[in-house]
Amino acid sequence: MLNQTKTYFIETYGCQMNVADSEIVETLLIDKGYKKSLSADVADALFINTCAIRDHAEVKVHSRLGNYFAFKQKKPGMIIGVLGCMAQSLKEDILENKPYVDIVLGPDSYRNLPSLLDRYNEDKTSKVDTLLSRHEVYDDLFPSRKIGINAWVSIMRGCDKFCTFCIVPFTRGRERSRSLNGVISEVENAVDQGFVEITLLGQNVNSYKHNNDGFSKLLKKVSSVKGVERIRYTSPHPKDINTELIKVMRDSNNICNYIHLPLQAGSNRILKRMNRTYTREHFISLAKEIKSIIPNCGISTDIIVGFPGETEKEFNETLDLMNTVRFDSAFTFKYSERRGTKAIEYEDKLTEEEKQSRLEKVIALQKIHTLQNNKKYVGRIEKVLIEKTSKRSEDHWAGRTDSNKWVIFEKNKGESIKNTVSVQIFEAKGLVLKGKRIINEVGMAV
Ligand code: 5AD
Ligand code: SF4
Repeated sequence: MLNQTKTYFIETYGCQMNVADSEIVETLLIDKGYKKSLSADVADALFINTCAIRDHAEVKVHSRLGNYFAFKQKKPGMIIGVLGCMAQSLKEDILENKPYVDIVLGPDSYRNLPSLLDRYNEDKTSKVDTLLSRHEVYDDLFPSRKIGINAWVSIMRGCDKFCTFCIVPFTRGRERSRSLNGVISEVENAVDQGFVEITLLGQNVNSYKHNNDGFSKLLKKVSSVKGVERIRYTSPHPKDINTELIKVMRDSNNICNYIHLPLQAGSNRILKRMNRTYTREHFISLAKEIKSIIPNCGISTDIIVGFPGETEKEFNETLDLMNTVRFDSAFTFKYSERRGTKAIEYEDKLTEEEKQSRLEKVIALQKIHTLQNNKKYVGRIEKVLIEKTSKRSEDHWAGRTDSNKWVIFEKNKGESIKNTVSVQIFEAKGLVLKGKRIINEVGMAV
């Protein structure tokens, strides 16, 4: 008899939370008897995990769904599923305008995927489940990860902060955290599978709270799991970063000296309008405190330019703050209007040209700061975790310092991916550092 095993394929867009969620969906599909397809166009069930954070992200998904429609015409019977934030925020639009989409599932509904597949197979009519939950954290579902270096471990879901520009509180619902024991057993499981780096994930990762356990306690606990070489976390909210957390980072060797600290804007009036709940003065003093407790801590940020009503003077306050803090890197965005958010009501919108010109200024300034900060590494010896062969050259490795800088260095005998090695930096070039592996007096690499 012919092998009847059904195959699936998932494409993931957007943030790391989506990557982690797709791994949970894979577990559910594998438990249901599906096998991973080698490519999207031949899968029996094809899923797209979507992002709604900015218009640009949605445009990409719409265009990809156009490709899926073509795949389905060549392979009738293919099930097409839309998952994630766009499923949550655009379900009516998808059902109305994309009749070839069979399943629409929001981020809190993945557990229902197996039964929805059964129900779809019975009557071949579209199935939708976008109920948000106050409790779902997928605590008992181990993700199906691709073997590698880093395991994403989601520790909390949702967001209660309601920044006025952001759609996340509407697509992912209220904040809720997993149990500390659930997180630890997932970390242990990841180490058993060979992962050496753990990245703790959450929309507001440091708002983690389960019973009386907070983020600092969780971080400390994770750092004591045997075999965890590096721990990172993303994304925190500046409001929830405190001295205790910074000290836990300083005192644990395996917690990376790197913090992503999303600024968004440098003007107090705009921060207030964004409902960010901190001032520029607080942000600057937080960055100073981080640097005073962990002098070599890498700090990156997110910046939005052209928020409604942002004057030239207020925009310059963002540049001025960048000049004060000197971030190591920045993710920079033009404000994008999102349905259902408070900021959509503000009438004093900026033009696309104004936003574009501000974006270019922010990018140019960040480039200078990144290079200046990277130059300080020249001459230093850094511990680098080898992650992959460099894209530019087969003879070079690419790995990161614990402060999150990419380092490229020539390969040597006896080292491989996942090794942590000492590398002396000799050049800062663009976004990366170039280095040379340290070999000791007796010719041994260290
Ligand atoms: N427009 C532009 N950028 C946004 N972000 C979130 N919502 C928007 C929006 N409507 C950015 C913020 C956030 C990052 C994940 O995405 O900078 O920190
Ligand atoms: Fe969005 Fe603000 Fe929540 Fe981050 S903290 S997910 S920017 S609402």
